[in-house]
This record gives sequence, structure tokens and C-alpha cells, in this order.
Amino acid sequence: MTAVGIDAMEIWTGKLKLDLAETFAPAQGDDPGKYTKGLGLHASSFPDVYEDIVTMAANAAHRLMERKGLEPADIGRIDVATESSFDNSKPVSTYVAGCLEQVYDGDFHHANKGERKFACIAGTQSLDDAYNWIRAGRNRGRAAIVIATDTALYARDDPGEATQGAGAVAMLVDEDPSLVELSTEQGFGSADETDFLKPNQQFPSVDGKRSVNVYLARMREALDDFASQVGDIHPDDYPLIPFHTPFPGMVRKAAALGYRHIIRGTDVEDLVAEEIGHQPMREDFESDDAFRDAIREYTDALTETERYQDWYADTIDPTLEISREVGNWYTGSVHIARAAGLKHAREHGRELDGKQLLVASYGSGAQAEVHAETVVPGWEEEIAQLNIDEQNRKRYNLSFEEYEQIHDVHNHDTNADVEEFTAPDSEFVFDGWGRMGERKYRYVE
Ligand code: HMG
Repeated sequence: MTAVGIDAMEIWTGKLKLDLAETFAPAQGDDPGKYTKGLGLHASSFPDVYEDIVTMAANAAHRLMERKGLEPADIGRIDVATESSFDNSKPVSTYVAGCLEQVYDGDFHHANKGERKFACIAGTQSLDDAYNWIRAGRNRGRAAIVIATDTALYARDDPGEATQGAGAVAMLVDEDPSLVELSTEQGFGSADETDFLKPNQQFPSVDGKRSVNVYLARMREALDDFASQVGDIHPDDYPLIPFHTPFPGMVRKAAALGYRHIIRGTDVEDLVAEEIGHQPMREDFESDDAFRDAIREYTDALTETERYQDWYADTIDPTLEISREVGNWYTGSVHIARAAGLKHAREHGRELDGKQLLVASYGSGAQAEVHAETVVPGWEEEIAQLNIDEQNRKRYNLSFEEYEQIHDVHNHDTNADVEEFTAPDSEFVFDGWGRMGERKYRYVE
């Protein structure tokens, strides 16, 4: 079976930065530790006045095509995943194709375009769509561009405001990929939930605390379903585990749950049992509450063990390095976690050829998905091309008053007229409205 997977990727961050400890915490009257230690976030990215989900997506895709020497005729599919769409009919992928056609001679008239929606998991589902299209032999030798793009804004003073972010990830999905090969096995955990939704409104209605528990419950189901496909999983099987990262503190909880789950009945459980005992069993407790308390106590003790902390430092922490600086990118979030993990591995000389990543996606509403990816020899050259550190360094650092203005600029219900904070340079920009209410874009040299 020919390998199909991610051949290349590019990341485009919104050009503005809100420093959570220095700028946001004092304005909210909060201890900065709530953000940097509790949530695990240092900063959020925001789009400048001339940026939106289309410009970020088109700019990431343009960089990808340029770097890989691609022409429109090489692309048979453009899939965009977003939960920040501004049109209930015309998909963002058509705008992205329109932007790219301004700078290439050819066009995308024979490419299939669409838009995927299922909260944050839609980016992973779009990867599935592209994978299935190639596997089915319908691609005529062409590759797919999959883009996850979002401006993750919450209403002002919503508890989610600290976890905002904006950016796009563009991935080239092709045969014989240069980065990771996708596996056929997948595990799902899916249920009708109302943890986070946007019923025809821009800003989410969120039950924040419940959303954390729903994430964990669906993730556990997905892990079980995945194990039912591949057999027992051992923590040593996966050198990196990128999770959907709304904020790193969420992944801290998910990693503890996942580790406890996968060590059950293994040599690792026996080894840590010398320090903290074996995992509590339901039949040893009189009530669900008593069992839950025992599990919580065991998990807390587990995360204090040296074995767990070493595993976390190697397998999880590296995947959080980009998210920490940019916030939640919704559909792009798990894909920047993969990129961060691989980037860290390259920078630290880790040998990953042929090794497997366990990728754990989540979308509110709610669904988790777990699958494995095999790292392809040569991945280091591909990942070395990312310039996200430079982009992050160049972001304009907003004052709190400027943050308030930019939140209004991107609020669909306000008409804020604000000067741009940065100057566009060789990129697509928003250029006003057309006669049918469509958005217009142009390329700035
Ligand atoms: P909150 O109530 O403002 O924060 O909102 P908190 O008081 O719970 O504090 C957060 C953490 O910081 C806590 O840690 C505190 O103890 C700690 P925890 O107990 O959870 O481990 N803390 C401190 N630590 C050190 N020093 C201090 C300090 N102060 C406090 N001084 C909440 C938190 C997550 C509810 C909020 O940010 C929110 O509503 N976020 C949006 C929803 C969200 O991100 N949910 C995550 C799961 S759902 C998901 O991932 C899907 C999503 O991406 C959307 C989609 O799929 O489309 C959101």
C-alpha cells in the first residue's frame, strides 16, 4: 500500500500579540501565574486589521506552494477547516483559491473545494478527507492542500478570553510524504454534548469547566477505541503525543488521564506501584464517588513520580512550545502541537525515523479522535523550513487599550475604524467589501 500522509506544512500566525502575564493579567486584576502556570499560556496571537481567516490561510498555502515548487495544476483539492467562517454558503476555500489565482498563472478550476465543520476536530477530519480521496485513487496524481484557519475570539470578560488565538496551518497531503505517514487505524469518542457551541453567533457559548470534563471523557473513549484496533498501547511506543491544545493546562490533565489509562496492567504500573500502589478498581469501592476520589488521588500521586515526569518532559511538553506563545487556534491547534513536537525533536537531535506519533484531536460538541502517524526519514529537512519562531518574534505587542480596539475590529457586530499596527509585506490582505457582501482580497508586494 502506497504511503499517504503530510508531505509538508506551513504555519501563519496573526501578526499581533497579547502578552497574558504583562498586559492581560494586570488589566483583569489577576495574578499572572493563573495564565503562565495554571493555563500554561504566555501570549495569544491576533490578526491585524487587514488579516482574517482567509488571508492567514492563503498566506500559509502560498508559502507552502512556493516552497514545494507547486503550480495550481498540481493541486486537486483544497479543504479548509474552520469554525470562524463568515458565510453559511460560500466556503473559505473558494476565497483562498481566488487569492492564490492572483499570484499564479494557472487556476484551481478543476480542484474540489470545501469547508469542514466540527469545532476544533475539523482540521483532522479534513486530513482524513484528503487521505481517503488519495487512497480511493480519485486524485489523478495530484495532491491536496488542507488548511486549518481560525480567529478564536471569545466575548469580552468570558473566562475563555485568556485562551484566544489566531492563525492558520496549511498541510500538503500526498503520496510518499516527507513528514508523516497517516495510519489506517483510528479511535473515536463521540457524543451529543453542549460544552461549547456557536448557535448562529460569532462568540461561543461555553460551559468552560464542563468542557474540560467532556474533553477528558471523549478522549478516554477514543483511546479505548484506538486500542481495540491496534491492541495494547504502551507509553514507550510513542516518542511524542500531540494533543488538541486549547491551553497547555488542558493537555496536562489529558496526559495524566491518558498515561494512567495506558499503563494499566503493564510493567509500568507494577514499577510505580512500589511507590504509589496499584490503580484503584471499581469493585473495591462502595460508590462511584468514592471510586472517583480514589482515582483522583492515584492520578495526583502518579504525576508526582519521576517516571511520569520524565515521560511528560519528553513526550508531551515539547508539543506545547508553540501553543504557549500563540493561544488556541481551534482547528489548527493539534497541528501546531505536532509541528512543535517535531521541531523540538529536530533542535535536540532526537532520532524519530520510523517512530510513531500518537495524535489526539478533539472538537467540542463533542468528538475526540486518536490515530498514529509514522515519522518519515528526511522529516528534519521539512520541519527545519518552519519560520514560526521568527513570525512570533516579529509580532506587534499590543497594549491593553490596543487589544480592546482589535477585539472590536474583528467583532462582526461592531464597526471599529482602527489603523493597522503592522505593515503588510509580500502577502494577501483584506481589501474591503464587494457588491454582494463578499470579502475582497489583494496581494501586497
Ligand atoms: P477560569 O475559571 O478563568 O480559570 O477558566 P481557573 O480559575 O479554573 O484557573 C485555571 C487554572 O489556573 C486552574 O488550574 C487554577 O488552579 C490555576 P486547574 O485547577 O484547572 O489545574 N490557577 C493558578 N495557577 C498558578 N498560579 C495562580 C493561579 N490561579 C489560578 N495564581 C477555563 C478556565 C478553562 C474554564 C476557561 O479558560 C475557559 O472557559 N476556556 C474556554 C473553554 C476551553 O478552552 N475548554 C477546554 C476544553 S474544550 C476544547 O478544548 C474545545 C475548544 O478548543 C473549542 C472547540 O473544540 O472548538 C475550546
